[in-house]
Amino acid sequence: MTVHAPALAKAHHLDEQTSAFAGDVIEGLSQHPKRLSPKYFYDAAGSELFEQITVLPEYYPTRTELGILRERAGEIGSIVPRGAALVEFGAGATTKVRLLLAQCAFGAYVPVDISGDFLKAQADALRRDFPDLDVYPVTADFTAPFDLPAAVRGMPKVGFFPGSTLGNFEPHEASAFMRSAREILGQGAQMVIGVDLEKDERVLYDAYNDAAGVTARFNLNVMVRINRELGGNFDISRFTHRSIYNRERHRIEMHLISRKAQTVRVLGRSFTFRPGETIHTESSYKYSLDRFAALARGSGWTVRQSWTDPARMFSVHVLVASD
Ligand code: AVI
Repeated sequence: MTVHAPALAKAHHLDEQTSAFAGDVIEGLSQHPKRLSPKYFYDAAGSELFEQITVLPEYYPTRTELGILRERAGEIGSIVPRGAALVEFGAGATTKVRLLLAQCAFGAYVPVDISGDFLKAQADALRRDFPDLDVYPVTADFTAPFDLPAAVRGMPKVGFFPGSTLGNFEPHEASAFMRSAREILGQGAQMVIGVDLEKDERVLYDAYNDAAGVTARFNLNVMVRINRELGGNFDISRFTHRSIYNRERHRIEMHLISRKAQTVRVLGRSFTFRPGETIHTESSYKYSLDRFAALARGSGWTVRQSWTDPARMFSVHVLVASD
């Protein structure tokens, strides 16, 4: 089904962001198999649930990446140019960037995120703690082209993309993002990026099916959001969360599975579910060091240095823009 977002917006009096959400939801639920984009997980409740995920005993990526950054921030500081502007794609908790800011001589920090309110709070806290650092927040969708602030145009640029957020992109989207980042940062740029690695399937399974059920609540929250923002009538007790590892495609997939035959309405449209039918809500791709280096090479970057933790669970790389 092709969904015409402006027509939806007019018929249901939706603002621009909500009509894009509505268009994507109606289109995704009309597909076979049904899909929803992971970018809609992150309303206030979803962002809070994600923060809870990052400290779960089973969810190794956040603490493992933090460990690598803590250990290697000094080395990263000796590679990246002094006085560079650090451009962070997406703004989450500031713990990771603080490690870099404390150890590297950056001249400015440019956090880029779609949520202006969140950015402002983050920028204010960093200005308090790093009084000599110039902070220039940019409210933008970082997956599309955007302009850097005029104040940093003459500075060398270093991108920062931690958390293996790259893994939530389909491979073609990951390449497109890397190319776009290369364009935005310009010639001579560098990039510090965190990438989750392939590993024992049991470890992956547990990380995305935690015993406390936080990942389940995070996944189901997208239905709560559809009910609230789009007047949907999902009964979340009739769906169950499941993550599975897709070995051929090197990715963990999150699904919401219908427990029974049912019909759900969203913005006046009906979507029927068979018992056991799934909505694919997220893929989290896991890379080998070689496959990541090939992706970087194919999208305008060369790996300058890579580090992993001793168990090779997670990797952090410094990339240099290819000429
Ligand atoms: C944000 N992203 C890198 C997380 C991941 O691991 O793919 C999102 C997540 N999904 C379930 N748990 C965490």
